[in-house]
Order: sequence, then structure tokens, then C-alpha cells
Amino acid sequence: MPISGTTAVYGVIADPIGHVRGPTIFNPLFEKIGFDAAMVPFHVSAASLQRAVAGFRAIESLKGWLVTNPHKFAMFHLCDQVDASGTRLQAVNVVRRESDGRLIGGNYDGAGFVNGLKHDGIEPKDLDVLMLGAGGAAYAIAFALAEAGVRRLTIANRTRTNAETLAAATRKFFPDFAVEVGAAKAGDHDLIVNTTSAGLKPTDPLPLDADGLTARSAVADIIMKPEMTRLLDLAKSRGCRIHLGRHMLDSQFPLLARHLGVPIS
Ligand code: ATR
Repeated sequence: MPISGTTAVYGVIADPIGHVRGPTIFNPLFEKIGFDAAMVPFHVSAASLQRAVAGFRAIESLKGWLVTNPHKFAMFHLCDQVDASGTRLQAVNVVRRESDGRLIGGNYDGAGFVNGLKHDGIEPKDLDVLMLGAGGAAYAIAFALAEAGVRRLTIANRTRTNAETLAAATRKFFPDFAVEVGAAKAGDHDLIVNTTSAGLKPTDPLPLDADGLTARSAVADIIMKPEMTRLLDLAKSRGCRIHLGRHMLDSQFPLLARHLGVPIS
């Protein structure tokens, strides 16, 4: 679609920027639905974020932007209003700029994971889940699984204290939710989710003691490259249902589009 004087501008802010997928997903979507808009990459360093955002507030044709590393936490503090999920995480991954320049943040990382499961036919409600990892992604996923009505969540992490901190944070927001810290050991779980970075490289150790892994458990990874991590390969060979990392991002784009005011159904 030709860019003209009426085109609404959207951005993606990141540093580094080359890998971001927003423009390649959103521009064809704008074209498909006949929406006069364009998404462009904004390469902004952490040191320049505040100045860049002050400028963004003043640009009337700029309607919002996606936020990725390293800006998710800093951007939270620059918003005027943030949704419940972003407030729990103190981090945003999308910002809508209202016509008066107010910035409305949201965070759909966890919702993207849960929606990805649902779209893939895995209903998280009432499942017994083992989650590996206690980093940034694990926080988003733990809170979203609690919201989705998971029956029990066991958090296992290489550094146990980080798992304890995450379990305590989850209990604070969801006091009735059954969350505990446990071992990274396959057992009687309905679903095992890897949120650690172990699996990015072929030489990484498995994040799970998989001796007891059987087809009873579905196994999800949030790593996107490689698509089949060692953990997923192993799970597949045991007959487990597997859930790929790309589902989390793919299922998140419609949620981000709605937050940005893009008229999708
Ligand atoms: P992200 O924001 O992507 O979740 P992160 O915050 O750096 O990334 O978190 C990385 C997670 O992967 C942590 O839970 C980390 O465990 P520690 O808390 O012990 O650091 C986990 N992790 C990284 N490498 C790992 C490995 N080789 N084996 C097991 N866990 C690993």
C-alpha cells in the first residue's frame, strides 16, 4: 500500500533491531485489511530511550509501537497507564499513543503463550504443569497460567532461590493458586514448559531430568531457533505431544494489534 500523508505510523523499538519480526508481520496485515498504516523499526539504545519516547509523544501520526529487549522494563515507567498484566510484570511489550499523547502500555507475553497453547488444542485449565526456568519469560508465563486456571504449577530452576522468588510473586498476585518450587524432573505432569535458554545451542544441557518422561506429558518450549530443541526432539521420541516456541509469538500478534487499535476482527 502506498504511504501517503494520511498513513498512520507504528514502530518497533529494540536494540539490536535487525531480528525484530513486527514489520514483516504487521505490514502485510495492514495491506490485507486495507488499513492505511505502516510499521517501521526504530533502533533506540537504552541510554536514549527517554529522549526518544519524549519525541514519540509529540508525533501526532505515530499511533504506537511494539517494545522488545532491552526496553520492556524501562518503557513501563514511561507509560501513563498500563494494563493488569504489564503492571504485575512491571514491563510492557506494546504501547498505544492516544491522540492527546498519553501512552497506554500492555504486556501480552504470557497471554500469547496461553493463547498459543489453546490454538494448538492444549487447554491449560486444570492441568498440572511443570515450568522450567525463573527468568523474565517465566514470570509472564507463570502469571498467565495462574490466570488461565491451571490446577498446579511447579517451578524448577537451576538457581533455586530465583524459583522461590517467582513462586512468592505468583502467590502474591494469585493467593489461591497452587504454586510450588520443585525439581526439574519429569513425572506425572500434564504439561512441561521450558522457559530457560538451555536449548538455544546444540551443546546446551537438557534443562530437565527426562528419565521419567512419558507420552503422558505434553512438552512445550519457548525457544524459537532452533525450532526443534534437544528437549522437543527427546519428547517427540517418547511419544509426547510437543508445542513449538513460535506459537507464543504467533498467537500474540492479534492481541498486540488490538492493543494498537488496528481494526482486526
Ligand atoms: P528470559 O528473559 O528470556 O526468560 P533470563 O531472564 O536470562 O531470560 O532467564 C534465563 C533462565 O534460563 C533462568 O531461569 C536461568 O536459570 P538461572 O536463574 O539459574 O540463571 C535459565 N538457564 C539459563 N541457562 C541454563 C542452563 N544451561 N540450564 C538450566 N537453566 C538455564
